[in-house]
Amino acid sequence: MHYPAGDIGLDGASFHVRRGEFLFIVGSTGSGKSTIMRLLIKEREPTSGSIRVAGRELAEIEHGKVPYYRRNIGVVFQDFKLLPNRTVYDNVAYALSATGARRKEIRAKVPDVLRLTGLSTKLHNYPDQLSGGEQQRVAVARAFVNHPPLLLADEPTGNLDPHTSLGIMQLLYRIYRAGTTVLVATHDSHMVDRMRRRVIELQGGRIVRDEASGLYAQRDQTTDEFSDMLDHAYGELGRDQPQGLEELQRPAQTTEWGSPPHAGGDGWRNY
Ligand SMILES: Nc1ncnc2c1ncn2[C@@H]1O[C@H](COP(=O)(O)OP(=O)(O)OP(=O)(O)O)[C@@H](O)[C@H]1O
Ligand SMILES: [Mg+2]
Repeated sequence: MHYPAGDIGLDGASFHVRRGEFLFIVGSTGSGKSTIMRLLIKEREPTSGSIRVAGRELAEIEHGKVPYYRRNIGVVFQDFKLLPNRTVYDNVAYALSATGARRKEIRAKVPDVLRLTGLSTKLHNYPDQLSGGEQQRVAVARAFVNHPPLLLADEPTGNLDPHTSLGIMQLLYRIYRAGTTVLVATHDSHMVDRMRRRVIELQGGRIVRDEASGLYAQRDQTTDEFSDMLDHAYGELGRDQPQGLEELQRPAQTTEWGSPPHAGGDGWRNY
């Protein structure tokens, strides 16, 4: 994925996420994390390669159908983009009505999601009457009110203190436990280290690590551990490279998301 001016957004970044997985994407500024999000919501088109979500090739979705596709995806960004002149309740209700929900459905679903996100006592507050953490919870409530099968969160704890960040991450984790596939791009090393979920690390648009229950950064090794590793890698077996390195060198060019929908199955609405 190259941006028009020639900047590399992603470069051969191939990965597959199973339905119902929780995944962290980490990497320094400019490494391509948000580019993944933009591609997944079809805000950008890849310059090469392919992206499949729930069995559908994104390039094949017609322009006019994109809004239907997006109804399946909840999105939480660092700048919450709440409507300043609407209450907590209305911010969430508005998101639901934008998907075509009827008033009855809105009245049923909004209180539920506000309970889930711990906002029941703040329904009538306006965004400027909320703390940063509460605002971010409204953003999560808004993204989840429609119970999308896929939730994308780009730096959801960016401006929050560690305690508040933990609350947001617990919320995302609860949503994942309820069956949603959750993808979180973050610089929050503390959180990634605590949660020990799958971690994909990007560097200059390339995937340099894909670990099942990883840390934010690969742990510093003690000298003994390092020499043990060398012994293992190069020792009696005569290996010519450390174990695991081949994992990082997969040449595939496709990015696939989830499994193909099956009848009556996985929560993906038609798009
Ligand atoms: N609209 C754009 N036009 C041109 N280049 C862009 C654009 N958006 C991003 N880029 C470039 O693409 C690369 C990846 O950017 P991206 O926003 O995906 O990084 P990121 O990992 O999300 O960084 P951060 O941690 O700062 O949010 C960067 O080199 C960036 O400069
Ligand atoms: Mg970003």
